[in-house]
Amino acid sequence: MKPQIIKLPKIVDPRGNLSFFESPRQLPFEIARTYWIYDVPGGETRGSHAFREQQEFIVALSGSFDVILNDGETEEKFSLNRSYYGLYVPKMYWRRLENFSTNSLALIVSDKRFDTNDYIRNFEEFKKLKNVFS
Ligand code: TYD
Repeated sequence: MKPQIIKLPKIVDPRGNLSFFESPRQLPFEIARTYWIYDVPGGETRGSHAFREQQEFIVALSGSFDVILNDGETEEKFSLNRSYYGLYVPKMYWRRLENFSTNSLALIVSDKRFDTNDYIRNFEEFKKLKNVFS
């Protein structure tokens, strides 16, 4: 499955709206871990790495930010600014999160528990593993 925006159910209610996701109905993987990124100072960038195995789903629960995905050759920008959709990020995509608005909250679920060995932090190494030679 390619990187894509997944629209989530939105239960509109005058008392306040509600959205959700569960595996396997909205997500293409089982959730093993949840983390969130918050209190990001203006102009900061998070991410800037790829994962060998883990897949992720990213939702802007509050505010907005951009997720830039690079497959080793081309870059694609996804702007997240609603809590009723999120971005599916497959394994082996270089990704960075930037342009965070004030008080934005990024919710991220992954199909793997935290493993530092799953990170690829060098872009040249990433391209080599993707068989992209410049
Ligand atoms: P990192 O994934 O490098 O953050 P980002 O992708 O936003 O730049 O994680 C930052 C630090 O937090 C790093 O020392 C590892 C730690 N960490 C955990 O211990 N558990 C987790 O689930 C995550 C995502 C990070």
